[in-house]
Amino acid sequence: MRKAQPRFARVCECAHANYNMANDLEKIISLCKRRGFVFQSSEIYGGFSSCYDFGPLGVEMKNNIKKAWWDEMTKNHENIVGLDSAILMSPKVWQASGHLTAGFADELVECKSCHKRFRADEIRVRPRSDPQKLKCPECGGELTEPRKFNLMMRTFVGPVEDEAATTYLRAETCQGIYVNFQNVLNSMRMKIPFGICQIGKSFRNEITPGDFIYRTREFEQMEMQWFCSPSARRTTRNGRGTKRGTDAEEKNNWGPDEWFEYWKKERLNWYLRLGIKKENLRIREHKKEELAHYAVAGADIEYKFPFGWKEIEGIHNRGDFDLKNHSKFSGKDLSYYDEETKEKYIPYIIETSGGVDRSFLVFFIDAYEEIKGGRTKTTKPTKEIEILLKLDKKLAPIKVAVLPLVRNKPELVKKAKEVYQLLKLHFVCQYDELGSIGRRYRRLDEIGVPFALTVDFESLKNEDLTVRDRDTMAQERVKISDLVKVLKEKLEN
Ligand code: GAP
Repeated sequence: MRKAQPRFARVCECAHANYNMANDLEKIISLCKRRGFVFQSSEIYGGFSSCYDFGPLGVEMKNNIKKAWWDEMTKNHENIVGLDSAILMSPKVWQASGHLTAGFADELVECKSCHKRFRADEIRVRPRSDPQKLKCPECGGELTEPRKFNLMMRTFVGPVEDEAATTYLRAETCQGIYVNFQNVLNSMRMKIPFGICQIGKSFRNEITPGDFIYRTREFEQMEMQWFCSPSARRTTRNGRGTKRGTDAEEKNNWGPDEWFEYWKKERLNWYLRLGIKKENLRIREHKKEELAHYAVAGADIEYKFPFGWKEIEGIHNRGDFDLKNHSKFSGKDLSYYDEETKEKYIPYIIETSGGVDRSFLVFFIDAYEEIKGGRTKTTKPTKEIEILLKLDKKLAPIKVAVLPLVRNKPELVKKAKEVYQLLKLHFVCQYDELGSIGRRYRRLDEIGVPFALTVDFESLKNEDLTVRDRDTMAQERVKISDLVKVLKEKLEN
């Protein structure tokens, strides 16, 4: 595991306030491991560089992120359908996409003394004697001239490992969408503008992976490709002139520039709606010289990580680059015929491309709070630090916990287990009887469980229990017979 840059965590000195703190990465990594969110891959063998495994809570949370994104694309927007294409594709795909040429390469330099390798664009250390030159950030040694290093991960299909059997693990999921453009168009009778979305693994032989799961060599992407007309239309489809129509009619006339602006806003709002603080998000437009080889225009949604403002999602206007090149390399005409305007054209593509792992890190960091002395107002503050993971309820890995007040009263345990059996059919649920009730609440707060249900002696008489809200710590009594309905309502709001 690459050592993260230590930063001083800002700990709230006020015993009863909940201030969010930009925390150092070490604490996040430690909590992720301790509570079963993320483990180092192959740990018993000393770990495998830059690869991570998502534990029982991690996989639940990751699935929740993916579901939130999938629902956002396919339910909250019109005209977007899904796809799940193969990771391995014909190597010709990668020739056509430009990924095998200089366009998808980083500049690599090597230190002549310690032989460590770095991305040239990440080195900031320069010798005083010659400020034009760069020097090794590790040992100060002299560096080689930069050379291009292609990021594609090569593999072989079949028993013979030769050039003819060579292919690549996909470096972006969207290529599977482009090569299926016509299949989806025809089978689903789609009309432009429309989108195809996909979630899946991608692989890049990154020179400098790091910052925990921020940059890894194997990661998951959530990509949506929006196919639109190459230019805005001046007339509405029914030829009634430029009068303002309905929202949908107006959007049908949009060109790539309008859609690019639209998707930037939509994607930023998705993160905001899932609880990311506004001050920690921004959109940064790409300068001409930093545009990806396929892009006409681009912008990053960036998050204020403990290690600086960094990209979490890219929105690109890819022009007709992809469909034009796949037409050329495959010999298949991938143009679109618009029945209404009688125009034939290669559609432009606006893409939204986010990382599941990066979003996971963002949601985790943004939700993380430390409260010195704890939140309980009824007892004196201690030196102890309480951790509260204020995840959006949609993303929380465990939704509900059921706790008997004490574990040495069999009748309470029996009732609590009955409630657990009832709820686990409806929610991702946990049963916990170990330790004092206060300790158990704190353990649940640390992993972001929105609701803790306590079965006490009154429960035995009244067939009810207390529902404790993670964020406000407010408790209310709810009838056991109403629990499923009440919790469903609470989790949806
Ligand atoms: N199809 C366009 C594309 O792949 P990108 O900006 O290279 O664009 C999009 O990647 C997103 O994929 C990034 O914003 C990030 O969330 C995720 N991503 C890219 N490389 C990654 C890596 N090495 N580790 C983790 N996530 C990565």
